[in-house]
Amino acid sequence: MTTNKSMRKSDAGWVADPKTGIGLPKVAYGKGIYVYDVHGNRYIDASGGPAVYSLGHGNEEVNEALKRQLDKIAHGYRYTFTSDALEELESLVTEACGADFADMVFVTGGSEAVEGALKIALQYHTARGEKSRRRFISRRRSWHGNTLGALGVSEFLDRRAAFEGALVEASHVSAANAYRPPPGVRPADIAAFCAAELAAEIERLGPQHVAAFIFEPVVGAAGGVVPAPPGYAKAMREVCTRYGVLMIADEVMCGSGRCGTWRALEFDGVEPDIMPIAKGLGGGYVPLGATVYHRRVADVLFDVDGGPMTGHTFTGHTLACAAGVAVQRIIRRDDLLARVRRGGAILMRRLGEELRDLPEVGDIRGRGYFIGVEFVADPKTKEPFPAALGVCGRIVRAAAADDGLLCYPSPTNVDGVNGDTTILAPPYNTTDEELEEIAVKYGRAVRKVIGEVRTSR
Ligand SMILES: Cc1ncc(COP(=O)(O)O)c(C=O)c1O
Repeated sequence: MTTNKSMRKSDAGWVADPKTGIGLPKVAYGKGIYVYDVHGNRYIDASGGPAVYSLGHGNEEVNEALKRQLDKIAHGYRYTFTSDALEELESLVTEACGADFADMVFVTGGSEAVEGALKIALQYHTARGEKSRRRFISRRRSWHGNTLGALGVSEFLDRRAAFEGALVEASHVSAANAYRPPPGVRPADIAAFCAAELAAEIERLGPQHVAAFIFEPVVGAAGGVVPAPPGYAKAMREVCTRYGVLMIADEVMCGSGRCGTWRALEFDGVEPDIMPIAKGLGGGYVPLGATVYHRRVADVLFDVDGGPMTGHTFTGHTLACAAGVAVQRIIRRDDLLARVRRGGAILMRRLGEELRDLPEVGDIRGRGYFIGVEFVADPKTKEPFPAALGVCGRIVRAAAADDGLLCYPSPTNVDGVNGDTTILAPPYNTTDEELEEIAVKYGRAVRKVIGEVRTSR
């Protein structure tokens, strides 16, 4: 159980209880983009935790849909029953992703969705008589979740450290970051460089040993929102296809509309073989994720094994699917992805204006309502601040303490130790006035902390 006491020890960088100054504030209720603690303090939730709350808090339509489902039944066990909620959510996801993504397993969150993706990749190769394909390739500065398999393919050094030696073995190739290209590579050459590097790693391992390449189309917490450079996803897709390696696009954080297209990779004109999703799918109303897989994978699994060999007691949970249906219907009805695209451009512009004269703001990047701001000690060399200064944690704490603005700290993005970025990921229905409030309050917190850092150095 995560208690206020254990959070105090392990999660420095978050908001502190305004009354005591220690531990976390106790949440009372939420409405839209605002959250209130038990002392009546109001917070504007500009990051949605880690980019979860696609509709904000306390949406009455979603709550009503959940109550209606509960009045009927909470859970029809997956080996006994299907349900309207499950079937409708499948249809909504397929309509959003394309007809080739008609098969999926609904799970309880992102790590489980990634775990399912890894297992489906292994099962696919076994079913095709290529059981030697067991190895995963992922990228540096990536986060895929906290179960042993998902953690094994992640390269988030401090989160892995305690478990090294017991993790699924994976190769890590270069991250693709236009602001921080691999050493000696020009930004325009990142796609070609990374594709050649992936091909070389597959050759080194032997293609007959490689199951899948897993990556985040827009990197989340491990990179501080890093969209793939132009041409990158297509080049990586081509290498995967050439070697019979499955492409897993981890859209747990960047997908389900957060970047302004329902699939983040839609923007790059690429279809993955397997796609874990979570967070924005159910908007945080209940724990919900899914492993979605392409028809060419599904055909093999169903022909040989009768279906995917992954799933747990709560797979396809009826109430969770009802929440997903309610959230996704509203997003579609209100055309909220258009809103994300338009509002994302506004927020990006306003952040640029608020932070314009601060050379320590190295990069403002992202797509839609998924925006990262990276801070550097030296804008010319892009040298990060020393980790000991804790710059991004201080910005997050100052924003919360002074103005009740919640944003997400993403430290260590440069080399696993140093690096300061913060993430903004408001609900898809955030209004222009709320965007303005976020930009102004965020600018104020950054200005305050950068001022203090300048004086102390
Ligand atoms: C890209 C990505 N994959 C997987 C996960 C794991 O999801 P969860 O925390 O819901 O298990 C996360 C969580 O932040 C994530 O950002």
